[in-house]
Amino acid sequence: MIEVELTVNGRAETLRAEPHHTLVDALRDNLRLFGVREGCGVGMCGACTVLLDGKAVSGCLVLAPLAEGRDVVTVEGLESNTGAMDPVQQSFVDHTAFQCSFCTPGFILAAKELLASDPTADTDTIQDHLAGNLCRCGSYSKITAAVLDARDRLAQNGPGMDSPGPSTEPTDKSSSVTDARQATDGTTA
Ligand code: FES
Ligand code: FES
Repeated sequence: MIEVELTVNGRAETLRAEPHHTLVDALRDNLRLFGVREGCGVGMCGACTVLLDGKAVSGCLVLAPLAEGRDVVTVEGLESNTGAMDPVQQSFVDHTAFQCSFCTPGFILAAKELLASDPTADTDTIQDHLAGNLCRCGSYSKITAAVLDARDRLAQNGPGMDSPGPSTEPTDKSSSVTDARQATDGTTA
């Protein structure tokens, strides 16, 4: 085992991993960040997407030791300090842009990367950018609608806003909100 020191979701962390372990495995095994999901394991599906120094990468293709000193963001790191969902997460909930939600963290992080670099992205740009993320449930049209809506929310309110709408109250314990939050923060798998 070797130790890998890095920043994960804004916190200094040390991962213990074998040299051949992937970032997906190290994040799940060491930090129990289950929003990082392994689908294909060969860079084809995007389920394992994380932001590495702000760039969306397939965590299954990054060896854990190569993350030494880097800044990693997973879907669990998107919530605000008050517990409000990120605007992109909230848009996915509002548009029900998932069914099983296995692919959802990857789509959300890829969308975050796009909207950070291109805040006026149109439908074609969004669909091109998300082409490396696969959804077995076929929720693509709703995912596109959610990202377009997130783009507009960010343009209106900025990235630091607390998410709007009654379903964003962190004290709301209704099952529908809980289910939606689990779908978008990766706590269901
Ligand atoms: S699990 Fe990494 S791209 Fe599919
Ligand atoms: S919602 Fe099931 S794989 Fe995308």
